[in-house]
Amino acid sequence: MKRTLIAALAAVVLATSCHKPEAQPFSVIPMPNDVTLGEGVFKVAGANIYVDSALPEDIVSVAQGFAGRMALVSGKKSDVSSTDKGQKIRVIFNGNLADEAYALTATTKDLIIEASDRNGFLYAFETVKQMLPAEVYGKERAKKRVDWVIPVVSIIDEPRFAYRGMHLDPCRHFFSVDEVKKYLDVMAAYKLNRFHFHLTEDQGWRIEIKAYPKLTEIGAWRNGTMIGKDWDSNDGIRHGGFYTQDELRDIVAYAAERGITVIPEIDLPGHMLAALAAYPELGCTGGPYEVWHRWGVAKDILCAGNDEIFTFLEGVFKEVADIFPSEYIHIGGDECFGGDAEPDRPDPWDVCPKCANRMKLLGIKKGPDAKHYLQNYVTARVQEILAGLGRKVIGWDEILEGNLAPGATVMSWRGVQGGIEASAKGFDAIMTPYTYLYFDYYQGQERDKEPLAIGGYLPLEKVYRYEPFDGIEAGAEKHILGVQANLWTEYIPTPEQLEYMLMPRMCALSEIQWCDAENRDFNRFDKSLDHTFQILDQLDCNYSLDIRCLVGMDRIPARTSEALANYLTNQP
Ligand code: ACM
Ligand code: ZN
Repeated sequence: MKRTLIAALAAVVLATSCHKPEAQPFSVIPMPNDVTLGEGVFKVAGANIYVDSALPEDIVSVAQGFAGRMALVSGKKSDVSSTDKGQKIRVIFNGNLADEAYALTATTKDLIIEASDRNGFLYAFETVKQMLPAEVYGKERAKKRVDWVIPVVSIIDEPRFAYRGMHLDPCRHFFSVDEVKKYLDVMAAYKLNRFHFHLTEDQGWRIEIKAYPKLTEIGAWRNGTMIGKDWDSNDGIRHGGFYTQDELRDIVAYAAERGITVIPEIDLPGHMLAALAAYPELGCTGGPYEVWHRWGVAKDILCAGNDEIFTFLEGVFKEVADIFPSEYIHIGGDECFGGDAEPDRPDPWDVCPKCANRMKLLGIKKGPDAKHYLQNYVTARVQEILAGLGRKVIGWDEILEGNLAPGATVMSWRGVQGGIEASAKGFDAIMTPYTYLYFDYYQGQERDKEPLAIGGYLPLEKVYRYEPFDGIEAGAEKHILGVQANLWTEYIPTPEQLEYMLMPRMCALSEIQWCDAENRDFNRFDKSLDHTFQILDQLDCNYSLDIRCLVGMDRIPARTSEALANYLTNQP
């Protein structure tokens, strides 16, 4: 009996000592731009970290965060110090690297990480994490035996675009602070750096404004929601919520720690019904108005002839600017005219005496374009307000119609044309065409097998194949600041569904934003998703595993994860 036990123990010791740690197959998303793999591995767990003494505290904290994570999941502590004791992980300032770029060199003996700014160091460690087993993203010590090693490798990496955005609409359905933070965690894992937070809508105002308390007392709540696609229905269930200014500051700080700037949106002069319900004097008719319970485009918007709207907007933007330190503030500007709920009713700006008077004073001639010129006036006034607060504006591509004042950045959503025109005219643009980057569209062709969505069909591969410079005039590429996907939530009532719509399409987005065009390869990307699904499992983040999310129903995907196998077995 005793002898058997000794023999068994000896076998375990032998097996343990013979175990040769192996690195994961290289499956980093977004794929770094220059990768040279070598032989062997570097052992990450327990390796002490030297941080260049020239580096500031907020970069030391990046290394500390990594060491803390490794200790949590592996149980092995790593010391972080600015005193050189020959540590194996070395975090070094390299002023030759561009903003957000990094270099990473792993041998069997050491790992050298170089960058010139905080995001560069963040991304280097993010790449290290993605080279490790997915358990590194876990919430506790890994339960199974894990080789905490990365391959011997040399990486030099830099993003293609400076603006790498993801949008969230918490207005059609409200998402809690914790849910927003999880969204930011997932964004950070894929090196996105702008969070477009769409905070106001016809169906709910979500940001506390102290000077206008009724915006959240009244505007944050609606008396029900239409059911499915039945436009005349109302479930009668009160829905709403808002973020206090303290909560928003907390979100801003949480995002900043992860290298993400939060860009708030106050959508104007349309999509303002919730604000009008709170302050009806700001609309052309004076109301009464109700926070909308249906989807679509509402008729009633801010009255461009009423100076009070500028006092109101100045008050709102002062508080917005105080909460959000971003260089840009989004002022919306989409879908101001032709609301679909009341097709026979004229647009308020066409029949409002105050708006007519404003047009007369501005010398705007009557005609089909008159409303666009009036919108230009509102946009320019808001640009002035924001310039006074030291900020620049972004607006949806409708702001380009008529005669847009210089300095605005155009967000191209009605396809790519807005970005093409804006950049040709010398405006900066951000590409977010619904044709490729509206993640509220279906991922699968068989709609009855998908959660109800707004419509459309946007499979993973179609997202992946979007090329932001297609159609952009030669020489105007410099005006394309970057790329973003949007996630509107009319048909997304839960965080699980939100994550399902987000993933894995956001991974495809991350490669559009980060990778040089010649480094994009859908087959390589598709194979890497197996590892990403394991990461998402660790993050407790839902995702679509649907093979129908690939273009071409006849193609078997490269993914072979256990989760995919289970999914396929459980299909009816
Ligand atoms: C938008 O999708 N209305 C910008
Ligand atoms: Zn008016």
